[in-house]
Formats: sequence, structure tokens, C-alpha cells
Amino acid sequence: MKKTSRKKPAASAVSHSASQSARFAVAILAAGKGTRLKSRLPKVLHQIGGKPLLQHVIDAAKKVVPAEDIYAIIGHEARHVKEAVAHNGIGFVLQTEQRGTGHALMMCRDALSKYDHVLVLSGDAPLIRTETIAQLRDYHLEKHAAMTLLSAIPPDPFGYGRVLRKSKGSDLVTQIIEEKSLTPGQRQANLREINAGFYAFAVKPLFTHIDRLNTQNAHGEFYLTDMAALFSKAKFRVVATPAKDDFEVLGINTRVELAILDAMLRDRKCKELMLSGVTIFRPETCVIDAQVEVAPDTVIEPFVQLLGKTRIGTDCRIRSYSVIHNSILGDGVLVRPGCILDDAHVSNGALLGPYSHLRPGSEIGEGAHVGNFVETKKIKLGKGSKANHLSYLGDAEIGAGVNIGAGTITCNYDGVNKHKTIIGDGVFVGSDSTLVAPIRLGNNAYIGASSCVTEDVPDDALAVARARQVNKEGWAKQKREAMAAAKKQ
Ligand code: UD1
Ligand code: CA
Repeated sequence: MKKTSRKKPAASAVSHSASQSARFAVAILAAGKGTRLKSRLPKVLHQIGGKPLLQHVIDAAKKVVPAEDIYAIIGHEARHVKEAVAHNGIGFVLQTEQRGTGHALMMCRDALSKYDHVLVLSGDAPLIRTETIAQLRDYHLEKHAAMTLLSAIPPDPFGYGRVLRKSKGSDLVTQIIEEKSLTPGQRQANLREINAGFYAFAVKPLFTHIDRLNTQNAHGEFYLTDMAALFSKAKFRVVATPAKDDFEVLGINTRVELAILDAMLRDRKCKELMLSGVTIFRPETCVIDAQVEVAPDTVIEPFVQLLGKTRIGTDCRIRSYSVIHNSILGDGVLVRPGCILDDAHVSNGALLGPYSHLRPGSEIGEGAHVGNFVETKKIKLGKGSKANHLSYLGDAEIGAGVNIGAGTITCNYDGVNKHKTIIGDGVFVGSDSTLVAPIRLGNNAYIGASSCVTEDVPDDALAVARARQVNKEGWAKQKREAMAAAKKQ
């Protein structure tokens, strides 16, 4: 091990004070097209675990440096990529032409001039953990390196750049050789340590030397990896620190890899939930996004999807084939099979389904029931109220203890505007009623079945709005006989 440039006091003490004062930026390589995905969507916006690849990397980086010190290098479909991640409050650097990873960093000269060091991450390697980025930063400072790279020893190194060390066991790296540039001798040497594609650079030496990169290689690109040999020759320290877990440096190049990494994340999430006390039957069939929270003693049946920012309380049961997105469920909620929830809020002890469709803004009260083929949108359904069968309830405020008969429709749309239906406590709406909004049904009112209600109903009143029934004695019999006689002739 070479010790020449080690300073006193002990390295760790130096690194500690240095990490507090040195200014770090993060640059994320995200300008490439991702040709092998064969997609109109830029590679870094493809999703795993319900989140774009680039967002995974940003989330990990945000715990190492503040968002304003993170820069995404964008190029292919730049506007689209920017729109998708701008809410993070990060900066952007444009690389109009993608002329290689080295060229991408050349574009960052101005943005990075106020920093001491830059951590370079890859927008297509989404499993990188915050701890590993911190490991790279700390090792870089501890070794006073101009360039530090994260390495790995995967079972099959094919396709990766290989790390050449000064001598066996040495800290110092002399070169990174891309797969296509390996000499026959190097190929035979079976170089197993690979460049994972994550780096730390001291900003000053990076930009004094980066213009010396050239494009004389298999791809005709400026390789960032060539900085290793450049620095090494110029007597700057280049070191490598191995990742603790080969798995987290995996990049995505094809949709097959996309599916594999997605499955890994889903599997990881299910295990986390199960270890925290949630029962999941056949977890391999469930799709649960990373941000979803589920309290202990809730049971999730096969083929359930829990997406976005969904939060589910304790003692719930989510039965098969339900898809719940960005919704909040209290405790003891039963979701029967086949329900779809989107931006809904369901209170304790409520019962949904089978086959209920809760659209955005649905607020279901404590112990309320929403039954089969009931669609709700922007409604409040009060405590203990029931809409058990075949209804559309939209833009409505419904009180407590209300019974909504089968087939009830709130007619909320007049062709131009949406109007509101207000239903007081204890109202009984008979089956097959249409409530033409704007309309108000007073507390404890009673609506006769099959009414088309167009005027407000006072408290405690009965509204019947349908034609009066007429019975014509013997009419059916006479009709039958007349028809039979006509047929004989
Ligand atoms: C790169 C490394 C290789 C390493 C591997 C790890 C180089 C030359 N090689 O190879 O040593 O083993 O990563 O996965 O760096 N990008 C831009 N602008 C460009 C070109 C690329 O932003 O002009 C972005 C890509 O979108 C991608 C990242 O840089 O996110 C890496 O580029 P890619 O072409 O995938 O490099 P690899 O061939 O994987
Ligand atoms: Ca790659």
C-alpha cells in the first residue's frame, strides 16, 4: 500500500473535519437515450417500484446533499425529463449532443465551479443507496483523492469497464478499461473488479484536466473513465472503494432488466411489510409501491395493488384484485374483491365492495358501506350511511345514517356545469331515484322509490315524484285473447 501522500493526524480525523467543510455537489448522468429500451419515453423516466429511475437516484442523493446542490445532466427529451423531476428543486445542465460520459461532465464546468467535489451518479442505476454514496464521499476525502470510483466484483463482469490497480492490493487505480478496449492479454488476465459507474472527483483537478480527454476509442466518445489514466499519469491519486452489495450497482438497459429490478423492489417492500406485522398471502402476486404504509395486523390477499402514497391502518382486510392508489384507509376497513380506489379517504370500520369504484375526493365515513357497482366521486358519505348497490354518487354531501337505495343516481351535470346534492342525516332514498342537482334533501326525509327529484325536500317530508300507478282490471287477459284470436285467422 502506498503511503506517500498520507497526512497527519490520522486519516479519519482529517476526513471528519473535511467532510464538514468541503462543498459537495451531485451530478447525475441522465442525458442518454436508452436505445435498447426501444421506447419513446426517455430511459430515466421508465419506472420501477412505481417511481422513475431518475427519481430513485435523486431520492438517494437528497439525503447526502441538499436538493439545490444536485444537478441532473439532461439531453435526450430534456424538457420531458426536466418536467418530471423539477419538483425536487434540483438544478439542470443541458448536454445537447450526447458525446459520452466525459463530455457530459464537461458541460458542468460552470455549474460546479463553486464546489470542492462532485459525486457523479448514473440516472439508470436506481438501486444505489444513500449509505453507498456517503461511503464514496468519505473514502474520497479520507484518501485525499482526485478521483474515487465505486467498484464491484459481480459474478459476470462482461460489458463493464475493468479497474486496473497499481499492484495487487494497492489502493491506487491506474486505469479503467472499457470492455471493447480490453487487449487479448487483459482479457485473459480475467480482471474481475469492475467500474460501477459512480465517482467522486475533486472539482479543480477535474476541470483542469478534463479537456485532455479524447475520442480515440471504440465508440468515438469522450469517456469519463479515461480520467483515471489521465490523473494517474499526472500523479494525482485515483482510488476505488468496493460496493458492499453488487446488487445496488445494477443498471438498466433493457425492459427485461427493468422487470427484474422492479420485481426485486416489490419483493423487498413486501418483506419489509411482513416483518413489520402485515400478513400478505402470495406476496409475489402483489404490487406495492415503495411509499405505501400499512399498519400491523392488516391482511392483504393475493393480486392486490397498493400504489402511490396509500396509507392503510390496522386490522384491515384488502381482498383480492383491489387496486388502491393514493388513498387513506383507517382501521378495521374491509375492502372486498375488485375495488378501485383513487385519492379516496375511508374511515374506520367502513366496508367497500365487491366492485366499488371510489374516484378522487371520495370521503367515506366511519362504518359506512359502499357496495357492488357503486361509483363515487367528490362526495362525503356520513357515519354509518349505506349505498349498497348500483349507484352513482358524485358531488354530494350525504349525512349520517342515510340509506341510499339501489340504483340511485345523483344527476350532477347539466351538460355545462356540475352541481351539488346535499342529503341530510337519516334520509331514506328509495331505489332507482334520480336526484337532479342542485338539490337538498332535508334531515330524515323519505324519497319514494323511482322518483325523479328536481325540487328541494323539507326535513321529515315524503317526496314522491313519479306517475301515479293505474291498475286496469282484466286488461292483460283481454289482450291475450284478442291476440290468440287474430293468430287463428
Ligand atoms: C459506463 C462506464 C463503464 C461502467 C458502466 C457501469 C463509461 C465510458 N463507461 O458504461 O466503465 O462499467 O458505465 O454501468 O463511462 N450519458 C450521458 N451523456 C452521454 C453519454 C451517457 O448523460 O453523452 C449517461 C447515460 O444516460 C447513462 C450514463 O451516462 O445514464 C452511463 O452511460 P452508458 O452509455 O450507459 O455507459 P455504459 O456503457 O454503461
Ligand atoms: Ca449503462
